[in-house]
Amino acid sequence: MNLTGWIVYNGYLPGTKFRDFAEWIQRAAANQGIRTTIYKNNHLLSCLTSDSVGLVDTETRPDFVVFLDKDIYLARQLELMGIRVFNHAEAIAASDDKIASYQVLAAHNFPVPKTVIAPKAFYNTGADTIDDYQKAVQLLGFPLIVKEAFGSFGEQVHLIHNQQELTDTIQQLQGRSFMMQEFIASSYGQDKRLHIVGNKVVAAMRRHSASDFRSNITTGGTMEAYQPTQEEERLAIATAKVIGADFAGVDLLIGPDGTPIICEINSNAHIRNLFDCTGINAADAMMAYIQQEMRHNHGRLADLP
Ligand SMILES: Nc1ncnc2c1ncn2[C@@H]1O[C@H](COP(=O)(O)OP(=O)(O)O)[C@@H](O)[C@H]1O
Ligand SMILES: [Mg+2]
Repeated sequence: MNLTGWIVYNGYLPGTKFRDFAEWIQRAAANQGIRTTIYKNNHLLSCLTSDSVGLVDTETRPDFVVFLDKDIYLARQLELMGIRVFNHAEAIAASDDKIASYQVLAAHNFPVPKTVIAPKAFYNTGADTIDDYQKAVQLLGFPLIVKEAFGSFGEQVHLIHNQQELTDTIQQLQGRSFMMQEFIASSYGQDKRLHIVGNKVVAAMRRHSASDFRSNITTGGTMEAYQPTQEEERLAIATAKVIGADFAGVDLLIGPDGTPIICEINSNAHIRNLFDCTGINAADAMMAYIQQEMRHNHGRLADLP
């Protein structure tokens, strides 16, 4: 069985951790006898015409792509070319947009923080939107969370204590999609990250910050290996499933009675921190899953002798 794959990461982001992630996947693939090529997203140029959907100057085609980026147009282009992309473009889109994720999860009656979605406001219209948010304040009370639809590393998440902070923060968000959200005080500075591959939790950690309401490692959080409860496992697996993700980092907040509340789902959760604190290399499980999926569900290999 000669599977070949591509691994795609973002070529524009600074630092080495995105390339590093791609290389971890590549090594896990090599250990399982799978040849892969690493591409930066900007080296795969999507082109479409009335009779073709393809890539400029790239003749070869892989059996599958491990897509470690959020370039949803490129992921969709590869899918339109008939290639199995892990994760699917739609799963990347649904987890990248936190408002979209919460809508899907709430529609399935999953535990999520009470959330009010800011009405769309175009950039630079001069409109005063602040009065429109007073109902959200009544519903949620202070302190509340203001969170942008798109963001990571905790950078687009704000804890708002009063009207002045709300006004100042929202003024800076002009034109960007955001939500106001119930602050889960019992989870202050803490959350749990469960790493999902297919129908399994392959590793988990607990994150804690002594100095910030956010538990992100980049905002000063520390991590430790964690054995999730059955309820947490079931919820994280079900979350990945309704979002349509093959792989996901599902982050759970801790509710007042200790029960989990979904904070977010990451379709391209990095695996190095998880390895550092659990000793588990999720890339091995990810590649084993890809092999199994390609063999059973994607048809191509089933046709091979
Ligand atoms: N509703 C909330 N209540 C309490 N803490 C929250 C809430 N939303 C987010 N947080 C904290 O902020 C951190 C970052 O928020 P998150 O939605 O995961 O954004 P990011 O994608 O930037 O990590 C979370 O890990 C959690 O510690
Ligand atoms: Mg997070």
